[in-house]
Amino acid sequence: MISLKTKGEIEKIRSAGRIVAGAFELLGDNLKPGITTAELDNLANEYIERRGAKAAFKGYHGYPANICISIDEEVVHGIPGERRIEAGQLVSIDVGVLLDGYYGDSAYTFLVNGVSPEARKLARVTEEALYRGIEVVRPGGHLTDISWAIQSHVEGNGFSVVRDLVGHGLGKKMHEDPQIPNYGKPGGGPLLREGMVLAIEPMVNAKGYEIETLKDQWTVVTKDRCLSAHFEHTIVVTSDGSMILTAG
Ligand code: MF3
Ligand code: CO
Repeated sequence: MISLKTKGEIEKIRSAGRIVAGAFELLGDNLKPGITTAELDNLANEYIERRGAKAAFKGYHGYPANICISIDEEVVHGIPGERRIEAGQLVSIDVGVLLDGYYGDSAYTFLVNGVSPEARKLARVTEEALYRGIEVVRPGGHLTDISWAIQSHVEGNGFSVVRDLVGHGLGKKMHEDPQIPNYGKPGGGPLLREGMVLAIEPMVNAKGYEIETLKDQWTVVTKDRCLSAHFEHTIVVTSDGSMILTAG
């Protein structure tokens, strides 16, 4: 069952989303060689708590940190710790916030100075794929129109889309129906309707699409250890298209 949110609920998700966007601004300012991922995690958490919100991932199925930081061949769910950021890394950060009973969720892949042209292209194409997905959202459209917009852009650029992880609805819960695959033929799945709130989140690998989970039970990496990038926004279906709720 896909719930349709009221205007008041959308405002609350927007408020959570603004805090997510602010956290990304702060993280981007502090993402420099030498800082540890635990320090970044702390900065984000202090920022979120000062605004009366909570970091949504902490404790989710036992997740041990506040945000996810996934470096290079790590796809998602990297756990912040004593590892230091280095020049040339591709750093994907995922932030979720709970405010006044509603969630906002977003991810961004940062380039730390001196990134290879290949890594730069991977991040660019993944971000473009997210926006291609968002652009096809409209009431009366189909869910897998999003999937196809993402897959066709990614594969057209010679990269591959992770298949085993998906985007999702959200609102009162961080993960609600529907699941949103980042690949698939257009014109399928449920019809999109005004008031649906969706987290669209392509995860894109430079080579093969296969992934595996490390022994820490969380960190997802590419099976062939190629680079991976991840971008995500929470959006709402409006009367004539969509609006991003996790923008600044
Ligand atoms: N942000 C992820 C998502 O987009 C969820 C993170 S899982 C957690 O669905 F365990 F780290 F919280
Ligand atoms: Co998400």
